[in-house]
Amino acid sequence: MTYDDIAVALIVGNWKMNTTVNSAITLANAVKFQIEDQFRHEVVVCPPYVSLHSVSETLRGSNIAVGAQNMHSETNGAVTGEISAEMLSQICQYVIVGHSERRTYFSESDLFINLKLLAALSADITPILCVGENLEDRDSGLAHDMVSSQLEANLNGMDLDSKIVIAYEPVWAIGTGQSASPEIAQDMMFHIREILADLVGNRSEAIPLLYGGSVNEDNIGVYVSQADIDGALVGGTSLNADAFCRLVANASRTER
Ligand code: 13P
Repeated sequence: MTYDDIAVALIVGNWKMNTTVNSAITLANAVKFQIEDQFRHEVVVCPPYVSLHSVSETLRGSNIAVGAQNMHSETNGAVTGEISAEMLSQICQYVIVGHSERRTYFSESDLFINLKLLAALSADITPILCVGENLEDRDSGLAHDMVSSQLEANLNGMDLDSKIVIAYEPVWAIGTGQSASPEIAQDMMFHIREILADLVGNRSEAIPLLYGGSVNEDNIGVYVSQADIDGALVGGTSLNADAFCRLVANASRTER
């Protein structure tokens, strides 16, 4: 896939810490069966590490790509329990980096996230960088500042001619059912696009921007019809094959 191939929407399902190996294969098969004949979209599913290989085998030959939910910045070594980009590169095409749950529960720093992004690119995996403010930042009028500071630190030293996807996920919208209004989402995406334009000029238009936070089959249309939103990073709804495939279909139908 190149950026230019993203006709309407890039939809990424983040399964988080859900599914066993068996139920992940069942879910992947159900998604594959329903999505195979559709077009004008790019779909990625991100199962837990232990199911990555089985899901990637299940989806082999389909038009659905596979992503990991996290990775370590080092290539190999004495880092018990961790997985490197090099290891992932044989089984998946994408990796989520800097999800707010990693930043919050595992105290991941902006520097660590920056090193992960660099490592993902050198292993030829497309990173999906997550940024987003918490409720306190938004209520204090600091949402733009928070996202700018994450982006500037996370993208430091990166060659943005490489493939990278950016997901804006306001922390207060994740798993709460309180999705950001399309206006709030578009306003932040425009801000992100401006920051990227400072870094890479017109090339910023080619970097896919995803919205994430309580996206479902009913509200996807309003997001992908915003000028600067190219798709969605989907949590809960991606665990239900029927709902997820309806979401993809609704994203594909929306023309901009
Ligand atoms: P929900 O879609 O469940 O709100 O999760 C969003 C998310 O965190 C995706 O990475």
